[in-house]
Amino acid sequence: MTRTPLMAGNWKMNLDHLEANHLVQGLAMHLRDNNHDYDKCEVLVIPPFTDIRTVQTIVDSEELNIKYGAQDVSIHDNGAYTGEISTAMLTKLGCTYVVMGHSERREYHSESDQLVGAKARKVLDAGMTPILCCGEALEVRKAGTHVEFVLSQIRAALENWSAEDVAKIVIAYEPIWAIGTGETATAADAQEVCGAIRQALAEDFGAQTAESTRVLYGGSANPGNVKELMAQPDIDGALIGGASLKAESFAAMCGFYA
Ligand code: 13P
Repeated sequence: MTRTPLMAGNWKMNLDHLEANHLVQGLAMHLRDNNHDYDKCEVLVIPPFTDIRTVQTIVDSEELNIKYGAQDVSIHDNGAYTGEISTAMLTKLGCTYVVMGHSERREYHSESDQLVGAKARKVLDAGMTPILCCGEALEVRKAGTHVEFVLSQIRAALENWSAEDVAKIVIAYEPIWAIGTGETATAADAQEVCGAIRQALAEDFGAQTAESTRVLYGGSANPGNVKELMAQPDIDGALIGGASLKAESFAAMCGFYA
């Protein structure tokens, strides 16, 4: 497989910079103890903005192979946008990934597919990798229209994108009903949607792009279910909330291939 698996820990609004220091040190230690092979699984942490400088300092000073990124970004370059953070601020801190379109931002900050797409564009143009999130609510799943719902989110965000650019992004499928609920989608449920995403990418952008774009699953992923999820042909990694806040469990998930 040409797609390098990615385990991404989305800390959400958890951990101050001192706790971040502790977690990254612990993670580095567990990955070292497990002889983690970074060619078999890329490791990414996505802390709150206020922790990023601290994470950068540890990663740089200890020459860790752990990557880090941000949970959101502004579509503006600079100026009178109180509370926002620019792509330039993130690249200056060594961030290589940015999440956009997480269901929590769509719900609490009314983010539209168009805004999510504009954020992804901005991040790619700044030389970082967008992690574009999508996923359906329980009502949609119950109605059986989850595949078309998710594909419409992605297609709206990536409208008019080139195949070359789409090949550089990461898509994360996170069914809302599985986030933080302990109710993981079964591996078959996750594969159904991740496979449909790859199929849609092939239709819209060609087979080569579909083969290159990484598709992650997120929603109560944990050390107990990660192997089965990762065994699915169209799941290239996981976007992990709760289980990424403990160094040992996150490191264990990064070692899914062993
Ligand atoms: P949980 O792993 O806590 O369910 O969170 C998933 C998620 O939303 C990651 O972005």
